[in-house]
Amino acid sequence: MRALGLMSGTSADGVDAALLDFAAPGEQAYVGMYSQAFAAPLRDMVLAANGPLPVEQMAILDRHLGACYADVAQAAIAQMGPVDFIALHGQTIRHQPRAAPGFTLQIGSAADVAVATGLTVVHDFRRADVAAGGEGAPLVPPFHHYLFQNDQARVILNLGGMANLTWIPGAGDPRPLQAFDSGPGNVLIDAAVRLLSRGTAQCDLHGRLGAAGKVQEKPLMQWLKHAYFQQVPPKSTGRESFDDSLVRSWWADWAYGEADFVATITALTAGSVAEALRNWMPAASELLVFGGGAENPTLINALRAALPELPVRLGAQVSGIPAQALEALAFAWLGGQCLLGRSLPYAQVTGVRQSVVLGNILPGKNWPKLLAVLATYPEKAFINGH
Ligand SMILES: Nc1ncnc2c1ncn2[C@@H]1O[C@H](COP(=O)(O)OP(=O)(O)O)[C@@H](O)[C@H]1O
Ligand SMILES: [Mg+2]
Repeated sequence: MRALGLMSGTSADGVDAALLDFAAPGEQAYVGMYSQAFAAPLRDMVLAANGPLPVEQMAILDRHLGACYADVAQAAIAQMGPVDFIALHGQTIRHQPRAAPGFTLQIGSAADVAVATGLTVVHDFRRADVAAGGEGAPLVPPFHHYLFQNDQARVILNLGGMANLTWIPGAGDPRPLQAFDSGPGNVLIDAAVRLLSRGTAQCDLHGRLGAAGKVQEKPLMQWLKHAYFQQVPPKSTGRESFDDSLVRSWWADWAYGEADFVATITALTAGSVAEALRNWMPAASELLVFGGGAENPTLINALRAALPELPVRLGAQVSGIPAQALEALAFAWLGGQCLLGRSLPYAQVTGVRQSVVLGNILPGKNWPKLLAVLATYPEKAFINGH
C-alpha cells in the first residue's frame, strides 16, 4: 500500500506532498516528495482568511484550495508513481480548541481531490480529537515515535509556521510519549520579513537578514513573557496567538535597526523552544530538527546557542527524510491508521479524554480495491517501532 500525504501548514508557503510505502520498514518507508508554492493570489487569500471571513468567501477559498491540492496530487503521482490513497491535511483557518465549545477548522475541498484523482481521500484529521476533548494538535508525534524511537530518549522539533516538540522515550523506557506546541516556528520571522520588505519577500531566505542583525536582549525578555509560553502542556497554538498583527505591534515600538528586529525575533523563536524543553520535557540524548525552519541556519544557530546541553542535529541528515517532507509523510501514515480503524495514544499529547479514530474517509473510485488491500494488513503492522 502506497499513500500520498498532502500538507499545507500555517506558514501558508504552499503544499508539500510526500509518498509513504507501508510495505517498507521504518525510515525506508519514505519514497519521495514533491513541493509546490502557492500562487501569490491564493497565498494572499489564505493569509487574509485569518481575519473576518464571510461564509461565501470561505466556500470559494475551500474550492480554490481543493483545486490546488488536486493539481499537486496529480503532479506528485506523475512524478513518483501511483498510490492507493491520499491523506489531505487541508489548510487550518481557525484553531481555538480551548474556546467553549472548542473548535479547529481545516478547509480545502477533499471532494475535488477525489474527483480529480479517482482515489480515496482521508481528510479532516483534527476534528474528532477536539470533539473528544483534545487540542486537535499536534497530531504527528505518534509517527515521530514510530519512526525515530532509539536506545536513548530523543526529541523531534518541527519548525513549521508553529513549532512542535515530541519527546520519545528510549526503547524499554515505560514513560509515555510527550508532545506539545512550544509556540512560533517560522511564523513571526516570516511576518517580520513580509512587513520590512513591504510584501516583496516571504521569508528570511537562508537566515541572511537575521544573521546581519544583533539580538536586543531587552525586547527579547519582554516578548518571552507572552502568556502562551507560560501555559502548561498539553497545549497547541496557531495564528490566533502568533501572527502578523503581533509583529506589527512590536515593530511600532522598535527602537533599533531592521536586521536587529529579525535577529531578535529569530532568537525569540529559538528561546521559546529551549524554555519549553527545559520546563516541560524529560532529558534526551539529542534533538532532531525538521520543517522549513531547518533551512534557516540563523535559527538553527540560535537554537544551538540556547541549548548548549543538548546536541541539535538536522533531522534530514540523520534520517534521509527531507525536512519539509516529514509532516506530509506523517499524515500519509495517519491516513493509513484511519483506514485501518485504529486510534492512537494521544492522551499525553493532545489531552484527549478517550481514544478516537482520526479522519474522515471519502471513498474514491478505487474504494473496493483499497478495502481488499487493507484486509491483508495484520493488526499490529506499522504501529510499534520498525
Ligand atoms: N531556504 C529557507 N530559508 C529560510 N527559511 C526557510 C527556507 N525554506 C523554508 N523556510 C521557512 O520554512 C517555512 C515553511 O515551513 P513548513 O515546514 O512548510 O511550514 P508549514 O507546515 O507551516 O507550512 C517558510 O515559511 C520559511 O519560513
Ligand atoms: Mg509549508
